[in-house]
Amino acid sequence: MRLLLFLFSLTATIDAASFKILVYNPKFGHSHSNFLGNIADILVEAGHNVTSLIPVIDESGKDGTEKSRKIYVPVAEETREVLTISYRSNFSRSVRFTRNNPILTWRMRDTFARQFLLQCRAVLDDVDLLKKLQNEKYDVMIVENFDMCGPAYSHLVKPKSLITSSASFPFSQMYAEFGIPISLSYNPSPYVSHLNVNSMWSRMTNIYAEWLLHAFFHPCRWMIEELFYERYGPDYPSLEEISSHSAYTLLNSEPLIDFAVPTLARVVNIGGIGARKPKPLGKEWDEVLSRRSKTILLSFGSVAKSIYIPRDIKDSILKTIARFPSITFIWKYEEPEDEFAMEATRSLPNLYLSKWTPQNDLLGDERITAFITHGGMGSAQETATRGKPAVFIPLFGDQPRNAGMMQHNGFGVVLDKFDMINPDAFVAAIKEVLENESYRKNAAIISSMLAKKPFSSRELLIKTVEFAAEYGPSKALRPQSYDMNMIEYHNLDIAVVFVLLAILSLIITKKLCCLAISFCYSTKKDKSD
Ligand SMILES: *[C@@H]1O[C@H](CO)[C@@H](O)[C@H](O)[C@H]1NC(C)=O
Ligand SMILES: *[C@@H]1O[C@H](CO)[C@@H](O)[C@H](O)[C@H]1NC(C)=O
Ligand SMILES: *[C@@H]1O[C@H](CO)[C@@H](O)[C@H](O)[C@H]1NC(C)=O
Repeated sequence: MRLLLFLFSLTATIDAASFKILVYNPKFGHSHSNFLGNIADILVEAGHNVTSLIPVIDESGKDGTEKSRKIYVPVAEETREVLTISYRSNFSRSVRFTRNNPILTWRMRDTFARQFLLQCRAVLDDVDLLKKLQNEKYDVMIVENFDMCGPAYSHLVKPKSLITSSASFPFSQMYAEFGIPISLSYNPSPYVSHLNVNSMWSRMTNIYAEWLLHAFFHPCRWMIEELFYERYGPDYPSLEEISSHSAYTLLNSEPLIDFAVPTLARVVNIGGIGARKPKPLGKEWDEVLSRRSKTILLSFGSVAKSIYIPRDIKDSILKTIARFPSITFIWKYEEPEDEFAMEATRSLPNLYLSKWTPQNDLLGDERITAFITHGGMGSAQETATRGKPAVFIPLFGDQPRNAGMMQHNGFGVVLDKFDMINPDAFVAAIKEVLENESYRKNAAIISSMLAKKPFSSRELLIKTVEFAAEYGPSKALRPQSYDMNMIEYHNLDIAVVFVLLAILSLIITKKLCCLAISFCYSTKKDKSD
């Protein structure tokens, strides 16, 4: 019986066609490379011939993919220059950045877009590369609508199917590009953790935040479009036009922990696609977790380094930890030998600093009581998958909305990053998560729901890509909204006609009334005469 099954599975894999897939995976940010890299690796595991095209923007990053064939476009000198003056090294200090600051947005947006523009030039300059890719006749090309060079380039590579994606939920211009309504009245913008749908002020703040984000990402769009018009003529399709013909859109969103918002049949949610099975912990970690009956893991992720957190906030974190002597705190701290770290561990026996933490494996261990996290999408999804209650301290990017969505779904509470300086607020947030049982229970239930989802993200990804490779994009799945202008889309023409009709009927009614009154008046007058 076993042998039969084995033979059957063997023939099944032989029978399944192997498709040629190109993943455009620029190297500029950890979560993006990770998302696209995992997609590439899973498709390799499913038996496909996957190539990752990696234009290098930030050399210090990881490729994200281990199993696919890689083609690099080395970082251009100009790209490197832009990068050194960029916002990057300041992400760690973003605990101080005010959110929704228009001046900061304007100052950063061009530099942010130029890193993509300059590296895109380097991609286009490699004429042989394009010829080679065109000759490959790819079945599917997967791009993320973030570095927009990928979507624009796909029109030159001419795969049978284009698949667009986002390494998070969709945001800003992506809504238009994916053809999804943005529903701002109840869909929080990435910069917003708390959207009270019944409060006019809250909804206004949400619109403002989204407008700011649109402004921020605008140069990322028009600079790339200009580049392609320059090189390939003014008839080159716009980014929205190219995206509109994608076969599918892949989102790193998990509906069971996200806000419920409108979507399209063409949009496939593969949230948690990178989630690995937790491995049992090594001796060192086992010992740390056995020290006290409760253990809390504290991590701000890989982009915002804990070592660069300003000293006063670091001190506040220590004061907070000192208030929980019966709980062990594990803090991901990049330099456990620096002066601050030595001093901290000397004075706090319940603090354990570690350069590197196996976050997923630790969260998989029952002895971790709660998690304090910046709420990056990966960490939020791991929190949910492992069913841990958490305190979310969003710093930048999509983190405020991630944190809000986790609180909305009962995983814990959001602590404003500006409250970190106040140990009382910090302690209160941790106490709430530890003492209110509802978070632990809720996290456990959703975790078991995620484990029993009808279709795993992995299955969805493989089947979707194979379907797109076999049949190409389906016309039926492309909404007609792409072919409408603003006036038509919002039915403004109809509204105008109705308003005009209403005004006209008011005028006519008034005229008729006047006429009637003057008629009555004159007949009365006639009679009295
Ligand atoms: C994958 O595609 C590349 C490029 O066409 C080709 O050189 C390579 O042999 C293919 N690999 C497999 C295993 O088919
Ligand atoms: C980081 O920001 C500070 C001001 O907040 C600025 O003085 C500094 O030059 C920035 N560093 C880099 C590398 O951009
Ligand atoms: C626990 O938290 C939930 C969710 O925020 C809240 O509805 C409930 O009132 C809290 N319970 C207590 C005892 O504070």
